[in-house]
Amino acid sequence: MFARIARRYDFLNTVMTGGAHHRWRHDAVKMARPVEGLALDVATGTGDFAFDLARSSSEAHVVGLDVVPEMLTLANLKALRRRMSQRVTWVHGDAQALPFADDMFQVITSGFALRNVSDLPRTLSEMCRVATPGGRVALLEITPVQGPRLFQAFFRSYFRHVTPRLGALLAGDREAYAYLPSSVEQFPPADALAELMRAAGFQDVSYKLRGMGTVAIHTGTKPS
Ligand SMILES: C[S@@+](CC[C@H](N)C(=O)[O-])C[C@H]1O[C@@H](n2cnc3c(N)ncnc32)[C@H](O)[C@@H]1O
Repeated sequence: MFARIARRYDFLNTVMTGGAHHRWRHDAVKMARPVEGLALDVATGTGDFAFDLARSSSEAHVVGLDVVPEMLTLANLKALRRRMSQRVTWVHGDAQALPFADDMFQVITSGFALRNVSDLPRTLSEMCRVATPGGRVALLEITPVQGPRLFQAFFRSYFRHVTPRLGALLAGDREAYAYLPSSVEQFPPADALAELMRAAGFQDVSYKLRGMGTVAIHTGTKPS
């Protein structure tokens, strides 16, 4: 599915979030803390989080990992256009079995990806394993909307009815964008995701909501 939508992914993201996805990644990078060494962006897609991490410090080198080669090809083209190829390395791999040694990365990010893995606890444990002691993680993801019922109903209706139509119209792929609402509805609410992060080994876990409560940025630290 991600191979099919790769070429339209950035455009659709911008339309569906009104451009706010850029700001949310900047916020997440700030919350993770500036990077001075190796950083990892899990399920990097077309690489936007990896570029933000690389820009956060002149000392940073970023690895962007994704399981879909088409996404990595686009990320690489963006890196060439932005003259950032020296600062980022693209790795083909699975978030649930990260192809890295323990204790490697000072900062780990992930954007709009956790809904897509089949084993979320294992993915979080893998992130904790490859983080350095004291390393930080920042996870940006759509979150099931909490709050008044009417508010929840409005967003559920937007995701169920508007998103697939936009996907059909702008990406020619209704199915891929019909998957989005069901993946959000099945994803753990923000408090439950924070618990899963603690169970995976992170401490000082907290989160901030963005986009009128439709998006959460969770952060945590691997114990020293
Ligand atoms: C919605 S896109 C998000 C891309 C990017 N992180 C962003 O912030 O826009 C989800 C990405 O997760 C990747 N993905 C899905 N399952 C994965 C897995 N098990 N391991 C690594 N990447 C995965 C997809 O290929 C896709 O690029």
